[in-house]
Amino acid sequence: MDTETIKAKNNGLLYAMEDEKAIQLNEQNATSILTLIAAAGKNNALGKDNDLIWHISNDLKRFKRLTSGHAIIMGRKTFESMPKALPNRTNIVLTTRKDFTAAGATVVHSIEAALEQIKGDAQPFIIGGGEIYRLFMERCDRIELTRVHHDFEADVYFPEIDLTQWKEVAREDIFASEDQPYNYSFITYEKQ
Ligand SMILES: NC(=O)c1ccc[n+]([C@@H]2O[C@H](COP(=O)([O-])OP(=O)(O)OC[C@H]3O[C@@H](n4cnc5c(N)ncnc54)[C@H](OP(=O)(O)O)[C@@H]3O)[C@@H](O)[C@H]2O)c1
Repeated sequence: MDTETIKAKNNGLLYAMEDEKAIQLNEQNATSILTLIAAAGKNNALGKDNDLIWHISNDLKRFKRLTSGHAIIMGRKTFESMPKALPNRTNIVLTTRKDFTAAGATVVHSIEAALEQIKGDAQPFIIGGGEIYRLFMERCDRIELTRVHHDFEADVYFPEIDLTQWKEVAREDIFASEDQPYNYSFITYEKQ
């Protein structure tokens, strides 16, 4: 092998090593946007009798579109309120019950263990309910809130959003229609 060929080979190796290093650095620096997603009434109502209060199909479609392909963290009560684990998502259920099993979901017993499970996901979601929103709100980077502009009777409420910490960055207002009796807004907040 002549000197030029050796040089070219060494350069190739160097570039390959640099690429590998760049990939590793990117992976280390990859920022993940922990996003809390919820639908709450004007009075922060979230749910009643371990169920949702209203049915807004547009909101459910948006929830599905945003969360599909991602990890979703939920409380044991929210998991039990659903017919089954949500498809196309990594379902993570938080409970203190050591013997709890959940078909199609990973069960964890602490916030840290839940956070461990979402490593590597660019946009994991906190999907409720009230207790879990309270537990994670401080750690989240973004809130995707559907605000339903009506007061509802409820037994679980969304925590107050501290506007000194959170800034509204996007809003879409949707008006009541024949099949949808409430005005509502899709609001995105980002941590200041
Ligand atoms: N409108 C919305 O966007 C929305 C979204 C989701 C849910 N919801 C509604 O919210 C209601 C459920 O909310 P919820 O507040 O009653 O219950 P939840 O937040 O779904 O679950 C609470 C459970 O999470 C577990 N948990 C909480 N903190 C924990 C910790 N530090 N470590 C380990 N486990 C922990 C406990 O399970 P164990 O008791 O098993 O220990 C606790 O009972 C339902 O009505 C549901 O329909 C509404």
